[in-house]
Amino acid sequence: MLELVPPDTARHSAWLACHREWGPGAHEDGFGLAHDDDVETPEGFSAWVGRLRALPSARMWWIVEGDDVLGGVALRTETNDKIQRLGHVGYGVRPSARGRGVATWALGAVLLHARSRGLRRVLLVCRDDNVESIKVIERCAGVLEGIVLEGHDPVRRYWIEL
Ligand SMILES: CC(C)(COP(=O)(O)OP(=O)(O)OC[C@H]1O[C@@H](n2cnc3c(N)ncnc32)[C@H](O)[C@@H]1OP(=O)(O)O)[C@@H](O)C(=O)NCCC(=O)NCCS
Repeated sequence: MLELVPPDTARHSAWLACHREWGPGAHEDGFGLAHDDDVETPEGFSAWVGRLRALPSARMWWIVEGDDVLGGVALRTETNDKIQRLGHVGYGVRPSARGRGVATWALGAVLLHARSRGLRRVLLVCRDDNVESIKVIERCAGVLEGIVLEGHDPVRRYWIEL
């Protein structure tokens, strides 16, 4: 059974197994992970989890199945310039768990949280060549507003009414 759980130090080794699958240098969408966060040591991991749980304008969850961490998902709740660029929701699924509906389920679950926090609609932004993410967003009723350039990259802007 899939569940969304808040970041939790008790899942350190399971989270690291997920993290290692992405490989070095990959941006792990949905985890709020900066390149200089220490996630290897128990102290560093605990501090990072604490920072995630204390974010004033975002809620983070890990997508878990039993003891395994399959991915991460973030809901940004303020409407500001960052959200206009990144969207309200970000997500990522570890490579070995992709293609079986995990992200589609997680986005659906986060939309319920967004509605319960009073959001009326959410923005999702993804690269125009990210066919998997486009499928996820469109399966969750995303309506394409348009394609804009982010630097040199075309990105799609979708809205989902809640
Ligand atoms: C995007 C991502 C989160 C999707 O996760 P996932 O759990 O595999 O997604 P789902 O299984 O729910 O759905 C993926 C859809 O893409 C489809 N898909 C997968 N590979 C595809 C391909 N090469 N071409 C077309 N469609 C493809 C799947 O068939 C599925 O569609 P379906 O449900 O209609 O069959 C995952 O690929 C990922 O973590 N990518 C890296 C991070 C990222 O891009 N995050 C999103 C940033 S906007």
